[in-house]
Amino acid sequence: MSDILTVDGLRAAFGSREVVHGIGFRVGHGRAVGLVGETGSGKSVTVRSVLGLIRPPGRVTAGSAMFDGTDLLKLPPRQMRRIRGDRIGFIAQNPFGALNPILSIRKQFHIAMRAHRKISKEESYEAALIGLRSVGVAGPERVLAGHAHELSGGMAQRVVIALVMSMDPTLIVADEPTTALDLTVQRQVLDLIDGLIRDTGRSMLLITHDLGVVAQYCQDVVVMNAGTVVESGTVADVFGAPEHPYTQQLLAASAETPAAKPSEDPHVVA
Ligand SMILES: Nc1ncnc2c1ncn2[C@@H]1O[C@H](COP(=O)(O)OP(=O)(O)OP(=O)(O)O)[C@@H](O)[C@H]1O
Ligand SMILES: [Mg+2]
Repeated sequence: MSDILTVDGLRAAFGSREVVHGIGFRVGHGRAVGLVGETGSGKSVTVRSVLGLIRPPGRVTAGSAMFDGTDLLKLPPRQMRRIRGDRIGFIAQNPFGALNPILSIRKQFHIAMRAHRKISKEESYEAALIGLRSVGVAGPERVLAGHAHELSGGMAQRVVIALVMSMDPTLIVADEPTTALDLTVQRQVLDLIDGLIRDTGRSMLLITHDLGVVAQYCQDVVVMNAGTVVESGTVADVFGAPEHPYTQQLLAASAETPAAKPSEDPHVVA
């Protein structure tokens, strides 16, 4: 199996405090990989480092992140931005962070699509309508005419997913894309991303603390603890016969919490 992304020896620090201690993992072509670990274990810092999104005093101090033959960690910021907008789609926890508060949603689709191909306003509008419908947005004309602040959290995350998909990325990186949403919407959004990946042979790196989500949506899993990768492999192998005590603990804790199940009450947030 060839990889779309191979991370090796990645170290990241905030000031003099190292928080990611030389980790490695891979994302295969057409694979969905879950990155799990308790809060503070370094999941977000890892993906932000790989995507060139870490801000001072944070910095990457060592390692490589090979994406399709290019080491992302060595790219100048401008080229990294280009790859991020074009070949790697990033869906963060908070959709509003990815949307511009001043520009109409229509304009944001146009800018996203124009970044990598010649496209007229009419063409980008038509493509945005199709994209929004594909992520279950009813009345996409109204959404496109409006601004981010008029959207609910679930709707905003759908808009972000449609925006990311409009760039036709090879790899989708999602950092807890649903934790800000209520449980029923969480499932809908995950099903949506899942469908978009399955139909197209794209790859995904999905950060979550919900092992049930990994079991349902991923083929491979990487387990992080305190800035190191303690175990990785197929979900069947790792969840079926966890070798590391930390993974065993995580699985035991997850079996005790019913939180992975969809709730009756749509207002309960996990
Ligand atoms: N901007 C920052 N400044 C200083 N330290 C930071 C910053 N961001 C993260 N850290 C530290 O880096 C470590 C890893 O944090 P990270 O956000 O990657 O954890 P995480 O696994 O994503 O946790 P969560 O599940 O809560 O999102 C933590 O100890 C955190 O305190
Ligand atoms: Mg995080």
